[in-house]
Amino acid sequence: MQIIEKAHAKINLILMVTGKRQDGYHALQTIFQSLALHDTLGFSKVTNGEISVSTNHASLTTGVDNLVWRAATKLKQHYGVTQGVRIELEKRIPIAAGLGGGSSDAAATLRGLIRLWQLPWEPQPLAEIAAQLGSDVPFCLAGGTALGTGRGEKLVALAPCPHFHVVLANPGFPVATAEVYGAVRTAEMAQSHDIEGMIYAIEKQDPQRVASRLANTLEMATFRLYPAVRALKEEMSKAGAAIMSGSGPTVFALFTTAQAAMSLVVALRHRGIPVWLTETQKDDYTGGAARV
Ligand code: C5P
Repeated sequence: MQIIEKAHAKINLILMVTGKRQDGYHALQTIFQSLALHDTLGFSKVTNGEISVSTNHASLTTGVDNLVWRAATKLKQHYGVTQGVRIELEKRIPIAAGLGGGSSDAAATLRGLIRLWQLPWEPQPLAEIAAQLGSDVPFCLAGGTALGTGRGEKLVALAPCPHFHVVLANPGFPVATAEVYGAVRTAEMAQSHDIEGMIYAIEKQDPQRVASRLANTLEMATFRLYPAVRALKEEMSKAGAAIMSGSGPTVFALFTTAQAAMSLVVALRHRGIPVWLTETQKDDYTGGAARV
């Protein structure tokens, strides 16, 4: 028997860095939104106690550096599980792109192994294991639309965001999150974004208001390091409301019609830019019951 889990990509509709913490992380206020674009993970029981990971993505390592392997190992240790697992990871979400692909794979691993190993769904230890794996992993456990504070791991579920067709484009190179956070200037942390207004726009189901409040403190740092990302955002902004996701380099643009989204996809493809067309996704893992 194989258990299948989807691992959805995420974007940040708004991301405000408010300061640097004692532990080296940055304090955030962000609104996460799941996308339909997803990786797929398959989990099969094995007779020995070993954890093994295989993937269709050539440049992804499958040992201790892989968040899937780390998530499985942490869960096994926490519950003293003696069984092992073979995990097959089918990657579709681009890697190191600001779309939370690795975090979502780790969260899907926790969900999948709870089913495979028949473990209890205990929100508190799960939230802690998730946060140890990465700041975005707790959000990825439940998905949907949520406000993240702390370093991004403290969550409050929000009403589902109004539906958008989402165009994702990136300049085709990976960006390291730590490098971008390290390049944020103190003055940029003092700039505030309209988080309250974004929450209001979501509650009112007002796509125009959502689009007008997109903001991301990390853009300036990524733009300084990689000017091609700024150029891409400027290009996409001509077609619709566009902003960089997370630490980048993916830039997303939101559209209320498939036709408008498609014309941007075609224009970017003509120029040889890697591009994906997807849409916003309500939480489809647990019907909200597993919110941590
Ligand atoms: O939590 P995660 O492992 O995804 O973070 C990767 C790196 O990004 C951290 O080591 C840290 O340098 C940076 N980061 C940060 N503040 C956050 C989240 C991440 O400085 N809130």
